[in-house]
Amino acid sequence: MSTNTVEINRQRHRFDGRESVWLFGYGSLIFKADFPYLERKPASIRDWERRFWQGSHDHRGTVEAPGRVVTLIEKPGALCRGMGYLISPQVFDHLDIREKNGYLRFTTQLTFDDGQQVEGLVYIATPENTAFLGPAHERDIARQIASATGPSGPNRDYLLRLADSLRDLSAVDVHIFDIERYLNEQASD
Ligand code: BEZ
Repeated sequence: MSTNTVEINRQRHRFDGRESVWLFGYGSLIFKADFPYLERKPASIRDWERRFWQGSHDHRGTVEAPGRVVTLIEKPGALCRGMGYLISPQVFDHLDIREKNGYLRFTTQLTFDDGQQVEGLVYIATPENTAFLGPAHERDIARQIASATGPSGPNRDYLLRLADSLRDLSAVDVHIFDIERYLNEQASD
């Protein structure tokens, strides 16, 4: 049910001598930047799509009733919109703990709105991690989200804040907006 990734991530990137690193955020990192950053700007990454396929029993759910949070799934040709943060490598000490339940850091290429490209890092919960739930119909994902709550608050707040943040970024994400629509419809049933 849990893969603690803190030590694995520490070994993956050593940042020797580097003063700053770009990080790509596509989920709660867009709307919850509880860490210091040097710069923040909208960015996209290619060949990955955002999916509510990762289980959450430590933030937005419990062991008995896990919530769902986003991860990235490889999809050639897809474009995932999010937020780029330029951070000091020390910030990963905090983020590795915050995202310890199955998320590993990977190298990726960020593209900013002006076309500039930089190498950076992104946290991804891959299908091998034990909290991975995988695909389900958006209607069922909405139901699960509606009934889950955890130490970081209701799972529905996570979904609604993410959907709002994506609209602010002019992102088109049918998966996320479909789940939001089902959640709102089910609430008024
Ligand atoms: C993100 O927003 O990029 C993110 C949030 C939680 C875990 C991993 C990544």
